Amino acid sequence: MNARTTALSVDGKVVDLPTLDGTIGPSVVDIASLYKETDMFTYDPGFTSTASCQSKITYIDGDDGVLLYRGYPIQELAEHGDFLETCYLLLEGELPTTTQKADFDYRVTRHTMVHEQMMRFFQGFRRDAHPMAIMVASVGALSAFYHDSTDISDEKQRMIASMRMIAKMPTLASLAYKYHVGQPFIYPRNDLDYTTNFLHMCFAVPCEEYKPNPILSRALDRIFILHADHEQNASTSTVRLAGSSGANPFACIAAGIACLWGPAHGGANEAALKMLQEIGTVDRIPQFIARAKDKNDPFRLMGFGHRVYKNYDPRAKIMQRTTHEVLNELGHKDDPLLEVALELERIALSDEYFVEKKLYPNIDFYSGITLKAMGFPTEMFTVLFAVARTVGWIAQWKEMIEDPSQRIGRPRQLYTGAPARDYISIAQR
Ligand code: SDX
Repeated sequence: MNARTTALSVDGKVVDLPTLDGTIGPSVVDIASLYKETDMFTYDPGFTSTASCQSKITYIDGDDGVLLYRGYPIQELAEHGDFLETCYLLLEGELPTTTQKADFDYRVTRHTMVHEQMMRFFQGFRRDAHPMAIMVASVGALSAFYHDSTDISDEKQRMIASMRMIAKMPTLASLAYKYHVGQPFIYPRNDLDYTTNFLHMCFAVPCEEYKPNPILSRALDRIFILHADHEQNASTSTVRLAGSSGANPFACIAAGIACLWGPAHGGANEAALKMLQEIGTVDRIPQFIARAKDKNDPFRLMGFGHRVYKNYDPRAKIMQRTTHEVLNELGHKDDPLLEVALELERIALSDEYFVEKKLYPNIDFYSGITLKAMGFPTEMFTVLFAVARTVGWIAQWKEMIEDPSQRIGRPRQLYTGAPARDYISIAQR
């Protein structure tokens, strides 16, 4: 059967471009030969209509609010599994058997410590350094410690680096937090599950025994599952582009953390909570809605809107339920921030501006309220997002490295600068 093509007419010349179909979702027109055939580039600065790769990991249907990890709906994984099961699924492509799961948990648990020299690394930061700045630096610094897992051409080293990243992110995040609040570092414990261990490293103090709260551990584990991967978002695309040059995995993840920090992306959970605090009370919501609609005002409702989801973000629904669980468990069910958030959501979803522009709450809208109730400062919200997203970044990075057609990413441009001109000596300027 002849391969499917799409005809493109350029200045009267018709170019037949290969058209590829995926398992589900939009097909793609392969434009790799376009420049050679037409001396023209395509132009799509925000990549709104551009597929950068083929991937088997995550599928999003923005119109129907669908999110699948390796084909499994996010709702089912969040309901029935735990975060390390999701990590195994994203990395290996299949749900683990009981034996595979036990082995994976064992291996991750025994990579949670960081080199003791790294503890001194943190002493160089100011106490008020933003924890995301510390994470960018300390994750990048892992390449200075783990030379035995930076050769990306070696499959074994790729897997060791992947396990180390997943295992050490909670430890580094807790070190960043403890340093930020001026408390002593707490070492990981092998008798605790992944998320309980993280909460222990963050909130235990040497002066008393830490009592794990299984409801909070389960809630945070579910939050990690919701944030684990999300197709070719900005930070994942950053990791892929960095990895395409052959950079080591720790440096690539550090690049992803830097990109995630932005308020339009992973920094939105911190920005959304600050926005709710600025609104303060329900009666002040209309003025903020008016600002969000005002073309001359750069203000946007943080936690609303999404490049892909033009229907409800399926993660936001699960996040909202988790928020109620945590607030009820902690006795904060009358949290004024939740009251403002629920009323803001109700008003926004009935306002024709937001309906017409298909602006719904995204995952960041509710996560901040939950994490604040759990005791995390706002500066730590995006750090927690990075802890969860590391497995997605690593899975996408591995998929790219193992793709035989992979080449260095090197986009072109539409040049609108000065044409060639002669140098003028300073005396003549
Ligand atoms: C994440 O990509 C991913 O998958 C990301 C993520 C992941 O898991 O990796 O899902 C995580 O980053 C979620 C998004 C978190 N960001 C925010 O909550 C910040 C607030 N949202 C916006 O900045 C915005 O909605 C984006 C960045 C999320 C999406 O931007 P787009 O797709 O480029 O949309 P746009 O800026 O072109 O907006 C389209 C229209 C514009 O109006 P017009 O120019 O057409 O008149 O909608 C308006 C915007 O002004 N608009 C908003 C708005 N978001 C878009 N107006 C008010 N408030 C908002 N939040």
